Amino acid sequence: MLRRAVTVRNRTAHDNRKEFAMDITQLILDDHHEQRRLFAILEQIDRTDVKALAAIWGRLSAFLEVHAEAEERHFYPALLRVGTGAGGKPNADAETEDAIKDHNEIRDAVAAVARHPLGSDGWYAAVAAANKANSEHMGEEEREGLADFRHNAELALRHELAVDFATFEARHFAGVTPVDKDPKAYVEANK
Ligand SMILES: [Fe+2]
Ligand SMILES: [Fe+2]
Repeated sequence: MLRRAVTVRNRTAHDNRKEFAMDITQLILDDHHEQRRLFAILEQIDRTDVKALAAIWGRLSAFLEVHAEAEERHFYPALLRVGTGAGGKPNADAETEDAIKDHNEIRDAVAAVARHPLGSDGWYAAVAAANKANSEHMGEEEREGLADFRHNAELALRHELAVDFATFEARHFAGVTPVDKDPKAYVEANK
């Protein structure tokens, strides 16, 4: 422990920065994994255990809303500035517009779950639809926006945004009010 402390003190500020850097693309990937994990947990709870279903879905639905909002505040504006379409779409505008449209669809799919009694066939179908919308979006986001950002954003920016992203999620861990955004207007406002 002492040896490590001495080693770190002897390093330059530049080296220390590298050692302790975070990366917003990794935080987003980690969140995606947690979302997949929570959907999988829901599949393994007895459908009559409505208290457990309510608790896990409550956590997952709040997390989906906070994650999308955190990306819209701290990831996509930066992608619009530095992205080049390296993820496959013609440019970062197209990547972002598509992601915002997907976020709206996920919000709508999450809201639809609340219209069904917990544990009913309709509830499971609505959860499955939310899972499908979210998983299609995550796959695309990982291949496009995140890939583009890794190609074009410097480590210092990725760290700075990771701090902002983690702070936003920590402050709003219990959820945010879901607000749909017009994809084209969002791109124009954040370029
Ligand atoms: Fe997203
Ligand atoms: Fe995401």
